[in-house]
Amino acid sequence: MEENEKPWPLAKRIGNVIQFAWSATQELYHGIKKDRVPAHRWCIPGIVIALMVVLHWDEVIARSMVSLSIYLFGSEAFSRIHLVPTLNLSPYTERKVRHAIAYLLLFSGWVAWGLYRAWQKNSFLDRLTDALGAARLLCNGRYPAFIEDVEIDEHSRRLRLRTYGVTKSEFLATTEKLEALLNVTIVRIIQEEDKGIVDIVYSTQDLPRIAYLERAERFDNGKVPIGFGHNGDLAVDLRHVGHILVAGQTGGGKSNSLKVMTSTLAQNNPNAEIFFLDFKGGMESADLKNEVGNMNCNIVYREGSEACAKKLSDLGEALKGRLEVLAKASASNLDDYQKKQTALICQNGGEDLRQDTEVLKRQFIVIDEAAQLYVKEPGLDRDVVNNARVAVNRIARQGRAAGVHLIVATQKPDSSSFDQTVKANLPAILCFPMATQAASVAAVGTKRAYELNPDIKGRAVWKFGPSVEEIQTYLFN
Ligand SMILES: Nc1ncnc2c1ncn2[C@@H]1O[C@H](COP(=O)(O)OP(=O)(O)OP(=O)(O)O)[C@@H](O)[C@H]1O
Ligand SMILES: [Mg+2]
Repeated sequence: MEENEKPWPLAKRIGNVIQFAWSATQELYHGIKKDRVPAHRWCIPGIVIALMVVLHWDEVIARSMVSLSIYLFGSEAFSRIHLVPTLNLSPYTERKVRHAIAYLLLFSGWVAWGLYRAWQKNSFLDRLTDALGAARLLCNGRYPAFIEDVEIDEHSRRLRLRTYGVTKSEFLATTEKLEALLNVTIVRIIQEEDKGIVDIVYSTQDLPRIAYLERAERFDNGKVPIGFGHNGDLAVDLRHVGHILVAGQTGGGKSNSLKVMTSTLAQNNPNAEIFFLDFKGGMESADLKNEVGNMNCNIVYREGSEACAKKLSDLGEALKGRLEVLAKASASNLDDYQKKQTALICQNGGEDLRQDTEVLKRQFIVIDEAAQLYVKEPGLDRDVVNNARVAVNRIARQGRAAGVHLIVATQKPDSSSFDQTVKANLPAILCFPMATQAASVAAVGTKRAYELNPDIKGRAVWKFGPSVEEIQTYLFN
């Protein structure tokens, strides 16, 4: 009997090795595809050693060591340590061997990274099996089965399990236990139409649940603080990004973020004009006035749809004038224009001969509840609304060069509730949790905002360019 059983453990072992190699290949494939292999850490050493082998530096090193050993000990103890020459190969074969070694070394970093990731995954699977057992998460004697565990970003992953009858509420009830046993922070447990499958979004390194902005005076000259990310404080320069879209379901933290950004802009840009337009007219303006009341800044507040729409129309009209002034001065943007103006003053012996109308200040227009502009509001003049829509559209398209920047907050920036041309011209997006996958995709292009924990106030994703990064936004005040 024992004799008969012998081949099976061996076959099982071979099977495990094949499975491990396949898992490493998959990790490597996804790592390269998503550009997640930290090449500088894993691959550069192999590439450098490969170059050394091709350039015969091993011989140089070996010869130096021989000289050193003769100098130090008077012996030739290291004289036989040449890497390839000790094999006594013909020059042709030696070249081939060197090339083969170099190729292996070239790719060694990637292979090692894939193997490391597969090993990490395997040990995670072991812990998962233990955790499900310890949490007694089973139905009819069957534990949930592993389907996949994929990377969402550098710090978050999505674990997909076949539930075999274990309900979402049972998973939720054991969240803390699973977190402790798996040594991760569970961000969200999601069950879609297919009740047989559950997605557990978890983070290997969680962000703080509350972040306060310190030393706001750091963010001068158009810079706005966005939040605290895995790499520390995250801020952007509005002169560089142009405009920002702030999206997310109700209660996520949009207005709070607008207040943080506006007060920082007000504090650090005394020469700029700031407009805070709150279409719904809540407490936001009052909070801001309390915060920046004593600062030497220039904020114009408007509350309610009509007043905000009128102000936007005026700003849209003013933009036309600004663009004409820039064109007349042959300036490509506001910075260029201001440089030319300074040069002009110097030419005139320091005398400022500019007309009042030509003194252009940078403008920051912050709009809360912008969706109100795209819904039919009874009693609101249609012309006023249409002019405001045209103005926002124009500012989004042409404002950046003219030094007019938008920060626009709306719950759902999808085609049914927001102007898509405006959205296309707001390249930087701060998105708080979204209630559905579709809403998240409409806002940030992926379901990342749906995978945020909606119970953590102020938690959001930041998207500028292709990458999407999770952050904790700063709490106002
Ligand atoms: N960064 C944050 N840190 C901690 N708590 C926050 C943060 N941002 C918001 N909150 C809390 O969440 C609450 C709701 O925030 P806020 O009013 O900004 O949401 P909102 O997205 O504007 O919602 P709505 O769409 O309904 O206007 C705030 O009262 C505040 O207590
Ligand atoms: Mg709000």
